[in-house]
Amino acid sequence: MREAQSIQWFPGHMTKTKRQMEKTLKLVDAVAEIVDARIPVSSRNPILDQLVKNKPRVILLNKADMADPAQTARWIDHYQSQGILAIGVDCRSGKGLNQLIPTIRTVLKDKIASWAAKGMVGRTIRVMVVGIPNVGKSSLINRMAKGSKANVEDRPGVTRNNRWFTISKGFELLDTPGVLWPKFEDKLVGEHLAFTGAVRDEVVDLEWLACRLIEELKGIYPQALKERYKMQEVDLAPLPGYEILEIIGKNRGMLISGGEINTERAAIAVLDEFRSAKLGRITLEQVKERA
Ligand code: G4P
Repeated sequence: MREAQSIQWFPGHMTKTKRQMEKTLKLVDAVAEIVDARIPVSSRNPILDQLVKNKPRVILLNKADMADPAQTARWIDHYQSQGILAIGVDCRSGKGLNQLIPTIRTVLKDKIASWAAKGMVGRTIRVMVVGIPNVGKSSLINRMAKGSKANVEDRPGVTRNNRWFTISKGFELLDTPGVLWPKFEDKLVGEHLAFTGAVRDEVVDLEWLACRLIEELKGIYPQALKERYKMQEVDLAPLPGYEILEIIGKNRGMLISGGEINTERAAIAVLDEFRSAKLGRITLEQVKERA
């Protein structure tokens, strides 16, 4: 079976992205880094810390609607213990986004005070959104920019590709996000991105992927698997992923002629149901193990 490959980023592409990001960072006061709350480690860019350096930052644990709320709260505490403010959000419904501006203001407290001391009371705060593909950057920008007009006046940094939305009085958001690459050299990262659908399914073997997901789930959320696929009586612990996939296919009546179990259909069902949170709210990367 083929293993998960990650999104392709070429060295030249990465260098160009990095250079562009460094240039854009000079135009903003703070960065809103979006991660996927279900996989907060794998959905981060490996060099973002180095890129943003001392630029104030807020982490948005997005897709919190699909993540385990207790785990999201633990991640927020974890980041806070590192001196980073984080919030759980759902950019699809907009839930939690009312905390974004106040949190950025908190992060910029000292800067705002120093602007005020220099007579720049109410100076506009500019923020850019960054994150790897599929974490919800466009959803966030669309939500925040709803009803606001893009500013197109002539000023440094405002080009056709670089416009700002006034999302609240004295608060502007760059209309294009910084798209970064994931830590794709790590096999587990590639798998986790594929589980969530951040990596296109054409590049991975679905049965292999579903078996890997099942193996992770049986360790951290066995009850979710048992309930969803009517396996309450089965001791999942000693079973390899493929055998569990067969039970799922059988229980769902997914058979092909001759009575054989259609494990491909079962694999698609498991992946779809994980991605749409039908298996429940699940966080695959928990603070204890992978912080
Ligand atoms: P990107 O710009 O970072 O690449 O991500 P984008 O906003 O395009 O979001 C990627 C997918 O994730 C979209 O789904 C989007 O609707 C979904 N999404 C974003 N934020 C959230 C969230 O907080 N919760 C949930 N449940 N989903 C979220 P899609 O399937 O590509 O499109 P569609 O189903 O919205 O049409």
